[in-house]
Amino acid sequence: MRAEFSGNDVSLRSAPVITIDGPTASGKGTIAQRVAQILGWRVLDSGALYRLTALAVLREGGDGTDEAQAARLARNLDVRFEPEAIYMDGEDVGHLIRQEVVGNLASRVAAWPAVREALMARQRDFCRLPGLVADGRDMGTVVFPDAPLKIFLDAAVEVRAQRRYKQLKDKGFSANLASLLQDLRDRDARDRGRAHAPLVAAADAITMDSSRQGIDDVVRQVLDLWSARGPA
Ligand code: DC
Repeated sequence: MRAEFSGNDVSLRSAPVITIDGPTASGKGTIAQRVAQILGWRVLDSGALYRLTALAVLREGGDGTDEAQAARLARNLDVRFEPEAIYMDGEDVGHLIRQEVVGNLASRVAAWPAVREALMARQRDFCRLPGLVADGRDMGTVVFPDAPLKIFLDAAVEVRAQRRYKQLKDKGFSANLASLLQDLRDRDARDRGRAHAPLVAAADAITMDSSRQGIDDVVRQVLDLWSARGPA
C-alpha cells in the first residue's frame, strides 16, 4: 500500500528525504540524528509521536483498548520538538516517553489505522527544505514512499536488548535484560505482523545491519550513499 503525497505542497515535493526504518534499538534514531546534523537537515523521530500518543492515553487513564480515544489524542497532540527536549502540553516529556511501559503501549496503539492516519499529516509536515531524515517503521513504505534514499537498519535482537538495557540504565531507569529481550521479541512480532504499515523494508531500501559495525560506520555509509546519488 502506497500513500500519495498531497500534490500541491511545494516544500513537500522539493525537499529530499532519507528514510531510516528498522526495529526498536537498531540504532536508527542516533544514526538519523547524526546524518541530519551533518547534512544540516531536519529530523523526524516518528516513534516519538507514537510514544507521545501512548503517554497521552496513559495520562487520560486509558489502558490501550480504545482505538477512538487513542486516535483523538493523536490528532490533538500539542507537541513541540526541540533539539534536547520534547514538549507535550508545555511539559518536557522527552525522558518519560523512553520508558518501556510507554514503548510497549506505543507499539500497541500504532497497530490501529485510525492512530496512524491521525499522525500522517503531522509527519509529512516535517518535510521541508533543505531536507529531512525520517526514522521509524514505515517511513520508506508509507509516509515518504518517494524518498530518494531508503535505509532499512536491522540488528540481532540480543544486541538490541543489550543496547536498550544500557540506554535505560544510563537514563536512571531500572531494567532487566531477560525481560527486555522478551519485550523486544514481542514488540518486533507486533510491529512486523500488524496489518497496517507493518515493519518491513521497502522494495527499494538498502538493508544494513548494525550488529557488528559501529554507529559511525553506518553514518558514513549512509552519507556515502547519499553523495554517490549525485544531484537530484
Ligand atoms: O522507534 P520507537 O521504539 O520509538 O517506536 C515506538 C513504537 O512506535 C514502535 O514499537 C512501533 C511504533 N512506530 C510505528 O508503528 N511506526 C513508526 N513509523 C514509528 C514507530
